[in-house]
Amino acid sequence: MIDRALLARVAELASEHLEALPERHAGPIAGFDELRSALGGQLAEDGVPAGQVIEELALGAARGLVASPGPRYFGFVTGGALPAALAADWLASAWDQNGFSAVSSPAASVVEEVACGWLLDLLGLPAESGAGLTTGAQMANVTGLAAARGSVLTRAGWDVEEQGLGGAPAIRVLAGEEAHVTVWRALRLLGFGRAAIEVVAADEQGRMRADALADALAGGSGPAIVCAQAGNVNTGACDPLGEIVAAAHEQSAWVHVDGAFGLWAAASPVYAALVAGAAGADSWATDAHKWLNVPYDCGVIAVRDRTAHAAAMSLTASYLVRDDASARSNSDWVPEASRRARGFAVYAALRSLGRSGAAELVERCCGLARRLAERVAAEGVEVLNDVVLNQVLLRFGADDALTDQVVRRVQEDGTLWAGGTRWRGQAAMRVSVSSWSTTESDIDLAAKAILTAARRAR
Ligand SMILES: Cc1ncc(COP(=O)(O)O)c(C=O)c1O
Repeated sequence: MIDRALLARVAELASEHLEALPERHAGPIAGFDELRSALGGQLAEDGVPAGQVIEELALGAARGLVASPGPRYFGFVTGGALPAALAADWLASAWDQNGFSAVSSPAASVVEEVACGWLLDLLGLPAESGAGLTTGAQMANVTGLAAARGSVLTRAGWDVEEQGLGGAPAIRVLAGEEAHVTVWRALRLLGFGRAAIEVVAADEQGRMRADALADALAGGSGPAIVCAQAGNVNTGACDPLGEIVAAAHEQSAWVHVDGAFGLWAAASPVYAALVAGAAGADSWATDAHKWLNVPYDCGVIAVRDRTAHAAAMSLTASYLVRDDASARSNSDWVPEASRRARGFAVYAALRSLGRSGAAELVERCCGLARRLAERVAAEGVEVLNDVVLNQVLLRFGADDALTDQVVRRVQEDGTLWAGGTRWRGQAAMRVSVSSWSTTESDIDLAAKAILTAARRAR
């Protein structure tokens, strides 16, 4: 029997949680021991009524939740959840569609097809690209680099999908020294050892140097993949993609762009210049759960060469009947079979924003990041990066210990949440403004809290 009262109660609990976000402590309140004793214990022999399960789960988890969909959560690169995206995601759970294939859910298939088309358009990527929705940029990087591996080996006369990597022609992989950790892991999963990667120097903002890449490419030959980046996780800086693509294509190398959040600059006429030339690359990874503000989890992969993309990912089996060859099977484009129907939330987010809303979201976050940097810099705090996008790196005084202490105090205070990092060997506080719900007054509150923490730490 459908328990309407339970679903209504959950809607109430969720609304209460969301309404409280602006006022609540931005980080967790409880430690692990408290959470374990609230939520742990042996699994009982007998089941518990669903209503009781939900009440106790909500109560037990509350103090261990972080206000990540709230307006002053600036950790990692964290988007909130747009109202339409959150609501569509609830429906996706209730509909419980297997987003695997056209047969398992025609609606999930068509909605993902439409949403992927809109994403390509909004991000200025070639319309003919293959595209899919992954768990995040991590798996989008795996997917893009798998397509790259297959394609460069095909050109060298080797079918990696059939023959594997043993005995295959060596592939050169070149990555900027500031490539994201998930790119290194993607390469590891695909059989490229860390020691085999040619690391290309980056400039002081973390952008791969195109001249260093050209030199490195000229120093060798054979199939090659270049891993470029749009949006350094610390500084927000974007590699000079036009120059990188030109240098790489000159040597017939494949260019994969990890643009987990930075690629969204393309959605705004004001910021698109930062990623100029991105469309010339061969594959692109980005996230929807960051700047598009859909609930976790959702990444995006696009690959210009649909054949290479499908060759790396698609699967067939005798029981997987395809009645309509034109119908999209979502799992042809990602490394997952049964999967959440992620397209519904992406579709809803994009429809609710429209082109202008997406541009405005990017521009607002960037403007707010600049506002925060200006507010604290005016009081003597050092801003370590050029605030070109939505990332701000702050340093307090000359020593790492003081900066680490300010980060700790800010987290304890709870007005906002920001994490620590090391940038070019120095401790820094990372502030990432990626939520649709952040306002100017949130930034002013956050700046004040940071300055108070800095004063108290001295
Ligand atoms: C540049 C970059 N690439 C990849 C990732 C990984 O994204 P995800 O955690 O969604 O897999 C991130 C996360 O912040 C990132 O900033």
